[in-house]
Amino acid sequence: MALPKQVKIVEVGPRDGLQNEKEFVPTATKIELIDRLSAAGFRNVEAASFVSPKWVPQMADGADVMGGIQRRAGTIYSVLTPNLRGFEGALAARADEIVIFGAASEAFSQKNINCSIAESIERFAPVAAAAKEHGLRIRGSVSCALGCPYQGEVPVASVVDVVKRFAALGCDEIDIADTIGVGTPQRTREVFQAVTEVFPREHLSGHFHDTYGQALANIYAALLEGVEIFHASVAGLGGCPYAKGATGNVATEDVLYLMHGLGIETGIDLAQVVEIGDFISNAIGRPNVSRAGKALLAKARSEANSCV
Ligand code: HMG
Ligand code: MG
Repeated sequence: MALPKQVKIVEVGPRDGLQNEKEFVPTATKIELIDRLSAAGFRNVEAASFVSPKWVPQMADGADVMGGIQRRAGTIYSVLTPNLRGFEGALAARADEIVIFGAASEAFSQKNINCSIAESIERFAPVAAAAKEHGLRIRGSVSCALGCPYQGEVPVASVVDVVKRFAALGCDEIDIADTIGVGTPQRTREVFQAVTEVFPREHLSGHFHDTYGQALANIYAALLEGVEIFHASVAGLGGCPYAKGATGNVATEDVLYLMHGLGIETGIDLAQVVEIGDFISNAIGRPNVSRAGKALLAKARSEANSCV
């Protein structure tokens, strides 16, 4: 299949990237991060979670974050909502899109949201219905689509099954998530080939964590399957609280460098994102793990020095 001419990059750093930070990241820092990202051209920023603060304390300030950001026209601000309580929070916070998040592995479902896959779908049904009623977009995220930290191998059929259930709930978009970054390109292609049989390709996204260094290769594999939406985290922030050892999402700077190198439009200013990666890494005292980000930052700094 020919590569797409343009893709949508969903910036998930403010949520997936920060949720695992041990030290509480000040609300003002989260707000500045989101505002700088939307100014750089992202059409979709995953901004917060309305989950139990006992489970993920870092996301406890979702309402304040959403209340403090400068909304950029045309940017979709998404938030995670595991249940109706979360949905009420999302609605009050004027989120544009809610994310229901399930898993293709029973064990991970229990660890992450404390219920079975079937129970999670029952729990999501009223959330999805309420979102429809209020005209909010719905995204479904399928964790462990390429492997599970507890169960190991996850059959492609299990991924297809959850995608079908999410489709039946009325999801506008569905994420195929490699939560622990174990997937490889051939498996990625097999999974996308299978799920595109049951859900429109143009509304499927690839959400790759980079634990095993395979994320960019997997993104390229997904591009070959015609996937046009990818998630990434500026500076490669992140890790999953319920997937021990998992590192962050693939770094946004690296994905943008890849896309632009392939002549694929993103509408996003890479130079600005590089500066944002530097800002957030310094703000939270964490190394910037974006390869392209670090290289471009060094280049920009040396050019600036040689001008004086
Ligand atoms: P539970 O303990 O089974 O449910 O948690 P509960 O109803 O008994 O609630 C427990 C407590 O949380 C209660 O408080 C509730 O009121 C409160 P208490 O009475 O003990 O004081 N509570 C809430 N508070 C605020 N907002 C809410 C809410 N709901 C309940 N919405 C539950 C079940 C689903 C709530 C819990 O397991 C949870 O919040 N899990 C969230 C886990 C999470 O956020 N994980 C990370 C995001 S998913 C991810 O990163 C994967 C992804 O990136 C894709 C990939 O890479 O795979 C998307
Ligand atoms: Mg994730």
